[in-house]
Amino acid sequence: MTIKHEVPSYLTQHGIGPWGDYLEQIDRVTPYLGNLARWVETMKRPKRMLIVDVPIERDDGTIAHFEGYRVQHNTSRGPGKGGVRFHQDVTLSEVMALSAWMTVKNAAVNVPYGGAKGGIRVDPKTLSQGELQRMTRRYTSEIGIIIGPNKDIPAPDVNTNEQIMAWMMDTYSMNQGSTASGVVTGKPISLGGSLGRREATGRGVFVVGCEAAVKRGLDIHGAKVAVQGFGNVGGIAARLFSEAGAKVVAVQDHISTVVRSSGLDVAALQAHVNETGSVAGFKGGEEISDRAQFWAVDCDILVPAALEQQITVENAPTIRAKIILEGANGPTSPAADDILHEKGVLVVPDVIANAGGVTVSYFEWVQDFSSFFWTEDEINLRLTRIMREAFTAVWQLAEEKKVSLRTAAFIVACTRVLQAREMRGLYP
Ligand SMILES: NC(=O)c1ccc[n+]([C@@H]2O[C@H](COP(=O)([O-])OP(=O)(O)OC[C@H]3O[C@@H](n4cnc5c(N)ncnc54)[C@H](O)[C@@H]3O)[C@@H](O)[C@H]2O)c1
Repeated sequence: MTIKHEVPSYLTQHGIGPWGDYLEQIDRVTPYLGNLARWVETMKRPKRMLIVDVPIERDDGTIAHFEGYRVQHNTSRGPGKGGVRFHQDVTLSEVMALSAWMTVKNAAVNVPYGGAKGGIRVDPKTLSQGELQRMTRRYTSEIGIIIGPNKDIPAPDVNTNEQIMAWMMDTYSMNQGSTASGVVTGKPISLGGSLGRREATGRGVFVVGCEAAVKRGLDIHGAKVAVQGFGNVGGIAARLFSEAGAKVVAVQDHISTVVRSSGLDVAALQAHVNETGSVAGFKGGEEISDRAQFWAVDCDILVPAALEQQITVENAPTIRAKIILEGANGPTSPAADDILHEKGVLVVPDVIANAGGVTVSYFEWVQDFSSFFWTEDEINLRLTRIMREAFTAVWQLAEEKKVSLRTAAFIVACTRVLQAREMRGLYP
């Protein structure tokens, strides 16, 4: 493998992983940054990274240790903000990349945050509820020295949810000696969570999907949609597209792929997943065993909403969609991006397409500080406005500079971050 980037000593050359994709995206935007390019190295170096050991006593009396991370990529525009992932494949490289994409995303939609991300290298399905709670609490205590309502505010990501956020909020509050509801977002409503937060990322994907469809002259009613990942983001996006009259023709999760050319019954599929934990065994469609076939499904809109590095040089040539909405973070490699561009596929990048979650997290944080809560209609209206404005601004810049939407979003975001960096100056 050719190494194109300087690899920091704490990553192996072989293990540069998603961080390498992110660096390449930054390289692509650098020529458009003018004098601010002087500061671009800031984007290539996470500000602060904490690696923690998370020991717990298992139910059978044995002791288990897990690797935990919290990375604050940049805080030039405000406190760190980003989710916490529990997954067996979490690595430092992945958390670095995810934290950097948060910096870019928060600046692209102009919410006053830097970028951060956290994770534990664990398959949470192997833990009991008691073990999961002990692990979450110990992890929160360990990273407690760098998080806080004004420092860095975690939120849900893959395999974490409202219950995990409630335990994190409680643990942090116990250690502080007072209830700090603003330390995490994505909390249960009863603990200062926001109406509409659970659906916000999927709703944002749907809103920008409708905008992109208008640009491409595609009618959402009757459009064929394929979704990878049927969790918080993919499940909600699928529901909203289907409610708008689109046909969800394929869904893939970590176990199986189900297809139905006339459209799956999304509500029935959701009920099946709630009961069994997977789309596998769903009777309302046909299961296909070759996972790679998912990418070649006949569809108009493709929504990768699972993990990063899914659309590659291998499967990009087989994609038939006109529009790709990146619900997941980092699903497309830079080389695959080029193939899609040549094929004329419109890719709405993650830093815009999935920014609905952090936008409503921002609303939640503001509501917690003022202890004054908004209605769901107010939240959805404000969310829709922010998503549309961000999409339109990026679309116009892409047209003006003749670049992809991703490069345009990175130009907007990096300019905001590096202007803040320059105005603040270097300390001391
Ligand atoms: N939750 C949020 O608010 C939010 C916000 C922005 C971005 N995201 C991103 O969206 C993506 C999904 O997050 P989520 O919160 O929906 O997670 P989730 O845990 O709710 O769901 C993840 C889904 O992905 C599927 N999956 C996992 N591995 C897979 C694989 N190898 N192939 C196919 N499917 C696989 C799972 O089966 C599940 O359906 C992640 O990239 C996350 O970073 C989430």
